[in-house]
Amino acid sequence: MTATAAPASPTLAKGLEGVIAGETAICNVGQGQLIYRGYEIHDLAAHATFEEVAFLLLEGHKPSSSELARFTQEIVAERALPSGVIDFIRTTGPMLKSGTAVPMDIVRTCVSILGNLDKESQEITHEANLRKAKRILAKVPTIIGHMQNVIDGREIVEPKTGGDPKLSHAANLMYLMSGSKPTPAYAKVVDVSLILYAEHDYNASTFTTRVIAGTLSDMHGAMAGGIAALKGPLHGGANEAAMEMLKEIMHDVGEKGIGTDAVDNWMQNAFDTKRKLMGFGHRVYKNGDHRAPILHKMGRAIAEQDTKNPGGHAALKWFELGEHVQRIMLAKKNIHPNVDFPCGLTYFTMGIPVPQYTPIFVASRVTGWAAHIMEQHANNRLIRPIAQYNGPDLMSWTGK
Ligand code: SDX
Repeated sequence: MTATAAPASPTLAKGLEGVIAGETAICNVGQGQLIYRGYEIHDLAAHATFEEVAFLLLEGHKPSSSELARFTQEIVAERALPSGVIDFIRTTGPMLKSGTAVPMDIVRTCVSILGNLDKESQEITHEANLRKAKRILAKVPTIIGHMQNVIDGREIVEPKTGGDPKLSHAANLMYLMSGSKPTPAYAKVVDVSLILYAEHDYNASTFTTRVIAGTLSDMHGAMAGGIAALKGPLHGGANEAAMEMLKEIMHDVGEKGIGTDAVDNWMQNAFDTKRKLMGFGHRVYKNGDHRAPILHKMGRAIAEQDTKNPGGHAALKWFELGEHVQRIMLAKKNIHPNVDFPCGLTYFTMGIPVPQYTPIFVASRVTGWAAHIMEQHANNRLIRPIAQYNGPDLMSWTGK
């Protein structure tokens, strides 16, 4: 075996900014366009369903109608959770109430338990990985739904089947969470949000899954790591944090303040105190996130239709506030919103509980994670960068 020599002069890149850490055939994140396996995101959002995109990412090509029917059937058949996971979810109420756990932690633990119960958990062949990926994809919405039922003190919806087999992935997720079937318009918006969230090359959580897979560890473990990485507010947790920030602004300036200097003053104070505005900025996109306008337009259309949403709050004022915040951010900092900003507004408009926004991101991103885990396993090399030491000079333990 030949050892590869270290690069002559390795350079320090904080946060790995600008470093090409590997290759991928799954996704291309560019300033000009976002592509999943050769298909552009506007094209997918307008013409594909989430199930089709999930197939594209997992199986590697656009599905034929018979392939899609087979895939959809496979997913529907795997929606129900094992009783051990349902039992665990039933016990989560006090943890969620006390704040020792948040929904993202519960999803992470459930995925770990699913691994413990999966007969193929230790198999990392492509075929076993694909089967496990489909099982996880099918079950995450059920975890979210059952958990929301526990939070709301409602009977768990469809524990035996994990939903209504006639409903799409997106519609079934909403049904499981609330017990009522969404309107086609709401289901469509959630479906598109899942398409937009599905994949984004070497983002922090996907890179985490590749690092874990690169040690030849297993799919469920890599996914649990991905969920932990996605949870943070600098990454997927920003969709919840963005909505919480808008609520804070609304509270501080009052409804009459939307569109007035009061918001400018709030923002100036945030800039002066070097506060990060949630849902803005991106490591790669410097001229805007391709996904954000797609979701903003759809979310706003929903808000315009509903003067009162199911949660009982007038939705449009939140979009008006969000748009004012965006204008100030662009004018003062030249920073654009990322996908999490319109996502927060859109899910809020539909009455989805804020702590479930990032778990819903998981329900979609598991497809991208799984594709990357399989790609890593197919052409593996351990991922192990080097660090530049900046600790104390050499000392003697005995003082001699
Ligand atoms: C996602 O990577 C992906 O692809 C992720 C994702 C995916 O699909 O997987 O797209 C999903 O994670 C979207 C990002 C969600 N996060 C947020 O919305 C949190 C708020 N955003 C920021 O903290 C920030 O923009 C990051 C974390 C997204 C990116 O951070 P970087 O690339 O490390 O940039 P930085 O923090 O070093 O900022 C550079 C400059 C700084 O100003 P200066 O010190 O140079 O004067 O831009 C400023 C920052 O202060 N800046 C912000 C800001 N984002 C950048 N200032 C205020 N508010 C912000 N949101």
